Amino acid sequence: LEVNWDVTAAQKDGYPHFMIKEIHEQPQAITRTITPRIKDMLPDFSEDGIPDSFFEDVNDITIVACGTAMYAGMVGKTMIQNRLHIPVTVAIASEFRYEEPVITDKSMVIVVSQSGETIDTLEALRLANKYTKKTLSIVNVKGSSIARESSYVLYTHAGPEIAVASTKAYTVQAATFYLLGCKLALVQNKMSVEEAHEFIQTLSEIPNYIEEVLAQASNVEQLTKRMTNAANAFFIGRGLDYTLCMEGALKLKEISYIHAEAYAAGELKHGTIALISEGVPVIAVATQKHVYSKVISNIREVKARGAYVTLLTREKEITDPSICDVHISLPDIADEFAIFEAVVIFQLIAYYTSVGKGLNPDQPRNLAKSVTVE
Ligand code: G6P
Repeated sequence: LEVNWDVTAAQKDGYPHFMIKEIHEQPQAITRTITPRIKDMLPDFSEDGIPDSFFEDVNDITIVACGTAMYAGMVGKTMIQNRLHIPVTVAIASEFRYEEPVITDKSMVIVVSQSGETIDTLEALRLANKYTKKTLSIVNVKGSSIARESSYVLYTHAGPEIAVASTKAYTVQAATFYLLGCKLALVQNKMSVEEAHEFIQTLSEIPNYIEEVLAQASNVEQLTKRMTNAANAFFIGRGLDYTLCMEGALKLKEISYIHAEAYAAGELKHGTIALISEGVPVIAVATQKHVYSKVISNIREVKARGAYVTLLTREKEITDPSICDVHISLPDIADEFAIFEAVVIFQLIAYYTSVGKGLNPDQPRNLAKSVTVE
């Protein structure tokens, strides 16, 4: 008897790589992560053992993490700060741990880590624990060091992430920040119960919206055909879209080895626009109504210098076809939640570019899934 399959291939469920399998697992991963924490359409962390008092008397928040987890933190920062109107800072763990922390006993420190073992993040947590009891970790791996050493832990339920480039771990971290932001805003009277209902309702619909985005995967594959020859690429956006661009650029760098930079669209003119020349790919996101026209004028600036522009907007945004070369239309959703759709397109761009270059996206050179050295 000859068995003609290997265990690894079987685990990929018919997908050619773990990364694309994990990209497609995001709707279920988000559902698993948020459902146990929603009661009566409100955020509820009682199963995590976190009392409401933990969310009271928070003067400021510092989010500490590395890599993709830090970029999920950037999304969390923007979302929470907009809702709570308190200072929220994102710190790179390897910097934070050697700085003088500006933390008091009224500071909340949120540590984010898929593995729960990244040494710089763990040491940053140990430092924070000396200053405040309000330490909270967002971790995927049960019983990991970071989970054990923080006051409270919110486990994400992404399931095992095998591909080195993080995808589903990021979206569940972002979704956890949305629950957390809603909870903090409610406890601190910055959001009414009605607003919270609406917020949680939209959050719980995110998996369906992601399914719709995933249905566009083959279109994204087509558009990356042009990316494979690029030496540089730029991701631009404003507000929440900008936080997302950082993750988009990181993904592309990690697995396609194309130099990619994320820029706040309004900042391009202060230097980076000098790098825009004929055919340079610029991936622009414009989902935030209050800055939509500003991003569009920034796109005109790069287009006038020859950039090859891929633009992501929601369906309802009327886009003048002449401002971009490729338009990707995202399902219509409230501004605050559009990042969950756009990031999936970014993950697909990175994945198909890597595959198009003949690389193995699951095992990028020089990178490790978990970094336990300093
Ligand atoms: C490594 C991985 C990244 C990850 C980072 C933080 O560099 O390659 O994908 O984002 O570590 O890992 P963590 O487990 O703390 O989220």
